[in-house]
Amino acid sequence: MLDLARKRIVLGLTGGIACYKIAELVRRMTEQGATVDVVMTEAATHFITPVTMQALSGRPVFVDAWDARVPNNMAHIDLTRGADAVLIAPASADFMAKLAHGMADDLLSTLCLARACPLLVAPAMNREMWANPATQRNVEQLRADGVSVLGPSAGEQACGETGDGRMLEAHELLTDLIAFFQPKLLAGRHVLLTAGPTSEPVDPVRVLSNRSSGKTGYALARAAREAGARVTLITGATFLPVPRGVTALPVTTARQMHDAVMASVGDADIFIAVAAVADWRVKNVSTQKLKKTSEGGGAPLMEFEPNPDILAEVAKLDNGPWCVGFAAETEKLAEHAEAKRARKGIPLLVGNLAHKVMDADTTELVLFDAQGAHPLPAGDKLDAARRLIAEIAARMPA
Ligand code: CTP
Repeated sequence: MLDLARKRIVLGLTGGIACYKIAELVRRMTEQGATVDVVMTEAATHFITPVTMQALSGRPVFVDAWDARVPNNMAHIDLTRGADAVLIAPASADFMAKLAHGMADDLLSTLCLARACPLLVAPAMNREMWANPATQRNVEQLRADGVSVLGPSAGEQACGETGDGRMLEAHELLTDLIAFFQPKLLAGRHVLLTAGPTSEPVDPVRVLSNRSSGKTGYALARAAREAGARVTLITGATFLPVPRGVTALPVTTARQMHDAVMASVGDADIFIAVAAVADWRVKNVSTQKLKKTSEGGGAPLMEFEPNPDILAEVAKLDNGPWCVGFAAETEKLAEHAEAKRARKGIPLLVGNLAHKVMDADTTELVLFDAQGAHPLPAGDKLDAARRLIAEIAARMPA
């Protein structure tokens, strides 16, 4: 299912060079299933034309409060009735000042005042304008009024200066908008996750690792963040971008993953161990590259020693977090999963068949808890992750 399916968004543009990013945003929003009604201030039309916005949204664009195309001449009311949100991007300093004071002297500011749905703003301005106490006061007022403020980020600005005030990129705004609509089931919680493979050195150039892509763990980190949690992701090497708003700590070996988890677990409410952790490490790691000519006819003899079981150790902590484990099995899923849940001493274990889901974009999960086995519908890893977060939230002690 598309992330913005059945959502109707009023997208307001105010005057700022960041308007050029909105062409891309509208495309991405419609790709995700949203119906987008664009409303522009007169200033915004100096930066991007209503024709461009109409072509990309596939809907009429509104600028003028006296637009006679609206049958009852009340565009400021009609446009937001039935809308799921109003997003102002870019939101200029001037427009935020108007919003903070309830001013209504053009179509966009009037419809914001008359709306009956949530309002999100994406500020875009020069760093001095952003830092100005008047702007900061207005932003605080907007937050206090329940407005969601997306960004801004810091960096090089169109004016040539560098600092805070850059509008978020289109893909970041899209991610934040999608997250906005997810239920905040884990608000105020700290979720700690492990994800991806660990890899254990054999010699300075070789490692022993596994085929975990990290996709399920990263999808869960994103879903936990969307659900309002603070998220720390201890991750083995993957090719995936870190989900927006998630703190990622990269590690290589199982022992590094163990140490990073123990350093972060203190204030974690939930621990989700998704990583495919190497059960053993090479005991006799060679300090030099192993050569084919070494003893044993060229095949090196490797000795192994066990790695710490991170999940089992966290599950034993006094006042530790609520623990969720994963079991990637190749056969007898229910039997192995039940046994693993008992052995690790955890309330919830998520089972899947490794050969079916490793590196795939889809997954098929079965939850095992004290009440038995509960299969979840097969699907996209992000959908499955959101469902799993809801299942975790429902089982968490208050
Ligand atoms: N796990 C862990 N530390 C380890 C091994 C596993 O934290 N050293 C976690 C995994 O992240 C997963 C769960 O324990 O959540 C089960 O991992 P899995 O490899 O399936 O199980 P093992 O305990 O290693 O058992 P086996 O290899 O016999 O299946």
